[in-house]
Amino acid sequence: MADKSIILDYSCCLAEIIGGNGLNREQVDRLEKEMVAVHEKLAQMRADDILGFWNLPWQDGLETAKINNLVSKWRDKIDNLVVLGIGGSALGTTAVDMALHGVWRLALPATGQRPLKIWVADNSDPRNFYSLLNRLDQDRTLYNVVSKSGSTAETMSQFLIVSERLNKKLGREKAQSRIIFTTDPQEGALRYLAEREGYAALDLPSNVGGRYSVLSSVGLFPLAMAGHDINALLEGARAMAERCAVPEFAKNPAYIFAAMAISAWRAQRNVLVMMPYVSDLFGLAQWFVQLWAESLGKRFNLAGEDVFVGQTAVAATGATDQHSQLQLFMEGPQDKLLCFLSLDNYGRDLEIPCLYDDMPAFSYLGGRSMSELIQSEARATASALALEGRPSLSIRLPSITEHILGQLLFMLQAATVAAGAMLNINPLDQPGVELSKKLTYGLMGRSGYEEFKAKLLKQATPYIV
Ligand code: PA5
Repeated sequence: MADKSIILDYSCCLAEIIGGNGLNREQVDRLEKEMVAVHEKLAQMRADDILGFWNLPWQDGLETAKINNLVSKWRDKIDNLVVLGIGGSALGTTAVDMALHGVWRLALPATGQRPLKIWVADNSDPRNFYSLLNRLDQDRTLYNVVSKSGSTAETMSQFLIVSERLNKKLGREKAQSRIIFTTDPQEGALRYLAEREGYAALDLPSNVGGRYSVLSSVGLFPLAMAGHDINALLEGARAMAERCAVPEFAKNPAYIFAAMAISAWRAQRNVLVMMPYVSDLFGLAQWFVQLWAESLGKRFNLAGEDVFVGQTAVAATGATDQHSQLQLFMEGPQDKLLCFLSLDNYGRDLEIPCLYDDMPAFSYLGGRSMSELIQSEARATASALALEGRPSLSIRLPSITEHILGQLLFMLQAATVAAGAMLNINPLDQPGVELSKKLTYGLMGRSGYEEFKAKLLKQATPYIV
């Protein structure tokens, strides 16, 4: 199985490779001891059934059977699945679909292997949503409303708009059959509506939060509709969950990732750059940005004390960002840890032809492949950073398949909760987003939120130019 496993290389975080900014033996030993306590905390959280995402790779066949039934019912009748969801209800689906079907998947015609397109509408931007709704053939479109809480304003507004349009066009009964909910199994307005009006509804287990939900029906349904092998995705996640369950620090990729990232943060490296050398993995980098930011950016520790912790995650793409952000990464403040994602087998390759042998700018490229070029660039960038004493992690992917993605998604989620345990915060909540939601409700006239309207900043100030 080794050739199908992802590999995490942390050598460029160590002093013996990058010099003084790296960790020395003593510091690694200390981290190893710290991870013993982290292991116990995570084991307790799993025993208390708090880490619901950890069970998803082993989920019983009931939910996947429901998903497969819906896929068989709809697959040949539609060309478009529109996911209405935001944050954790959106980013994982985009990440996996983009990784497998490519960054151009929505711009190019569907193929036999890619029978339908998934459109993830993750904003309350009218310009963006209007142009999507008006361009899709509504007779060939299915909607999946994804919301754990069943009350997120952006998603609910989209649902109401789509509902009314479909009602007018198809009549109420047919319209309703075109909308599938994914939500909490017991709570929330969507669950209530599903029961009252008979909408088809998939379950997102109550103990799985949005940003940890990609391997639940939140991601699995749209991904199965798009033709991806969800069993292989779960199998990959299972293989990784086993690797992440071992107590030995040096054998556990999630613990190594968390320990390297958090020790870098403790050394004032406030930024973690996720930089795949694969354009199609940019969505995955964006999914990680949310996971890391929303999980670890916290004011309070578990004792309720002010701690104001968190590491800013940034998405970049190699080699594209070598011509954009790399200058900053190489010479700017020593406040970053980079994490490269490199790929052994790109699945497709292009040979670079020998056309102008007399010109050095072209001749060295002739006869080499494009994958050789991008792999050399990834290696060169990691080495250049190391030579400047700047740390990095490298995650090596053998190829891009559902199995490999399942491993990667699980590893990064396990690393995030391990990092949360190191910081002694709750990585599963997001209290900091509540105030802006309440102020929005106040502005939009939701009853019970009048006091928040009064707190809003006034727009007319003398400080406008
Ligand atoms: O990770 C999270 O919990 C959030 O990003 C949510 O996914 C996001 O706010 C959407 O919430 P909901 O699924 O309840 O609509």
